[in-house]
Amino acid sequence: MARRRTKKRILITAGPTREYLDPVRYLSNESSGKMGFALASAALERVHAVTLVHGPVTLKAPAGVRTIPVTSAQEMLDACQAAWPACDALVMAAAVADYAPLKLRPHKIKKTDRRLTLELRPTVDILATLAGERAPGQVVMGFALEDRAGRRNAEGKLRRKGLDAIVLNTPAALSAESSQVELLTRVGGWAKFPRMTKDQTARRLILELESLLGGGRG
Ligand code: CTP
Repeated sequence: MARRRTKKRILITAGPTREYLDPVRYLSNESSGKMGFALASAALERVHAVTLVHGPVTLKAPAGVRTIPVTSAQEMLDACQAAWPACDALVMAAAVADYAPLKLRPHKIKKTDRRLTLELRPTVDILATLAGERAPGQVVMGFALEDRAGRRNAEGKLRRKGLDAIVLNTPAALSAESSQVELLTRVGGWAKFPRMTKDQTARRLILELESLLGGGRG
């Protein structure tokens, strides 16, 4: 007889973050949020309870997903830290900006004829922070965006950030409709997915997440 599937609480992040340098200018990246939103829909389809923390995107989450819009990496961390203790799994699909301006100027920077140097500071690593704060049984899946030495770099991230699984992506996937990803799990090694739409990839990833969660917390 088929075993009854358990509903889980899944925290998903999506989209870029924005790091402002003055009231009208910011550092960000190309992320559309499609992968994270597709993951939220796929998890909902499988009747999980989904919390979606997302940066500035033009997408709309399906009804039934609890959405928390944020702007900066620090805001994303704060929202995730508030939600994480009550969740069974984290899927960190957001493209968090790695650097933020050291100073946020209170007024618009004026143009002059001189060069302008921006000083940047690293942002907090949300994935590593949440993986470090996890309770027994919580599962953490990250993403790795690599333009070279993909598998080697992704393996390094899995180990350094203390993840259960990592999805290897290339920059071409950032705002594209389809994606071809590889998945590395701590227990199962590498698996290469066929080229699929992001919705199809998301469904596969949620199934993989379910198998990592196993019986887990019900
Ligand atoms: N990530 C994060 N917080 C950051 C940067 C990245 O949580 N400040 C997460 C991303 O959401 C992703 C994973 O870490 O799940 C890897 O992101 P990636 O950009 O590939 O790697 P980085 O750790 O930023 O390293 P690098 O840019 O040097 O490759």
